[in-house]
Amino acid sequence: MFQAPYPPYDPTDTSGFSYDTVVKRWPIILTNIIDHVHRLLHDMTLEIQQVRDSDVSKTEELSKKITEGQEIISEISRLKYRMARDHDLENIPQDGDILVAEYNAELESLKQTSRDTWFRAPWLYAECYLYRLIRAYFNQRTYWRGYDPFSTQKEEMFKNSGAAIYQIATTMHELESEKVKLQGDSDKLEVLFKEMIQMCLWGNATDLSLLTHLSPSDIEHLQTVGKEAQEARSDFILKDDQGAVWSYIKTLANQGKRLDFVLDNAGFELFTDFVFADFLVTYTPYFSQVVFHPKLFPWFVSDVTPTDFANTISSLLSPTFFPPNPTTTPDSLAHLQHMVTRWKDYIDKGIFTLATDISNGQKMTEFWNGPWPYWNMNELAPELGQWLSGSGLVIFKGDLNYRKLAGDVKWPVSTPFPTAIGPLAGSFPLLSLRTNKADVAVGIDEKVAENLDNKGDKWRTSGKYALVSFLPGRINQ
Ligand code: F6P
Ligand code: MG
Repeated sequence: MFQAPYPPYDPTDTSGFSYDTVVKRWPIILTNIIDHVHRLLHDMTLEIQQVRDSDVSKTEELSKKITEGQEIISEISRLKYRMARDHDLENIPQDGDILVAEYNAELESLKQTSRDTWFRAPWLYAECYLYRLIRAYFNQRTYWRGYDPFSTQKEEMFKNSGAAIYQIATTMHELESEKVKLQGDSDKLEVLFKEMIQMCLWGNATDLSLLTHLSPSDIEHLQTVGKEAQEARSDFILKDDQGAVWSYIKTLANQGKRLDFVLDNAGFELFTDFVFADFLVTYTPYFSQVVFHPKLFPWFVSDVTPTDFANTISSLLSPTFFPPNPTTTPDSLAHLQHMVTRWKDYIDKGIFTLATDISNGQKMTEFWNGPWPYWNMNELAPELGQWLSGSGLVIFKGDLNYRKLAGDVKWPVSTPFPTAIGPLAGSFPLLSLRTNKADVAVGIDEKVAENLDNKGDKWRTSGKYALVSFLPGRINQ
């Protein structure tokens, strides 16, 4: 197994972002879950009062659900207490769901080096473990098994993205009349490709696990689309392989290639992923099929689960999902309907597929919810490695995927991207689109990084800078 020559980020460095995360951000995320379950229990109590005598079995069921909900709340409160005091990470209880043995085996090996506490464990392991543990709290209860405590938050956030979504739908509609012209005009396609890739990139700026420090106006600003907004933000792309990825894609014409999308967040970001995938399939001759890879259980607050994937299509098709907005016109409503109906049609025909719907897809998808860097994917998840090796391009969205690609270790910034992704380099053509929300960053000009550091710019973690990193399938070709 590959081992990097640098140590992982962990909260022992009290000036680092991981320290901040354990001290401030995780407790906020846990408190939000407690508040959410509390609200649900309150509603259930009111419901019991209404149905009390008329429906005894309903009353009994609600009472049991309330008792179990209270147990979940006290487990999460206990976890907060233990986290704040640097207690040890306990084994994930056997809840009949995926990866219990794998998480516990990693924990056992951390124990051997006394790194099995909240402030000493590698940040990457501890953060993944946290979401697996939360899963177990819900799974162990009859009435809460499989419950997604972030689903309301994800949906509310999505509802706030209406303005940008309608604007993008109209832009895509305008493209339709130029479709035939575009197919033969490679220069124009390149310009469009760059607009699309940037829209998809900046779609990653607005995930929910970061909302603890981005204001609503910051988010709205990051969602602004269109040429000028993108040009203004292009200086913030600190590694820019857009040209290289386009040169590669152009070699794929009319070969029926498959695109794999390793998804990140639901809501606006998933919408931008769909638009990018749609652009590549509908307007270019380079890809004929797209497979989207979700997470099997709720993950880093806002990541896409299979349920979110399905809900996204139905929400977008519902004319009342987004609250009325002064910029929404009947035309833009129709443009959105038209575009998303095409996506639905692609899903029905298998042109767009969720990875869990392909044979062996469930097994293949487990890996994304694991605690591991991606370096050793071919050993740890051979069926996934095998699948991706047949892809025309694998797009890794978002910050956590980037952290896992580079192993979340303290690489110097000038480390070449292929070095940082270890033995995975060359396994398949790979594109990472990431806005920077954690310390690890490679492939960047040392001088640029130094200048930003000297200005006190939090370029690694603020979410306002980004990296576009591409590697062809076989390097040194
Ligand atoms: O600190 C922000 C954070 O929670 C990181 O820990 C994590 O890498 C990231 O957000 C998740 O971001 P994304 O949704 O882009 O993967
Ligand atoms: Mg995410």
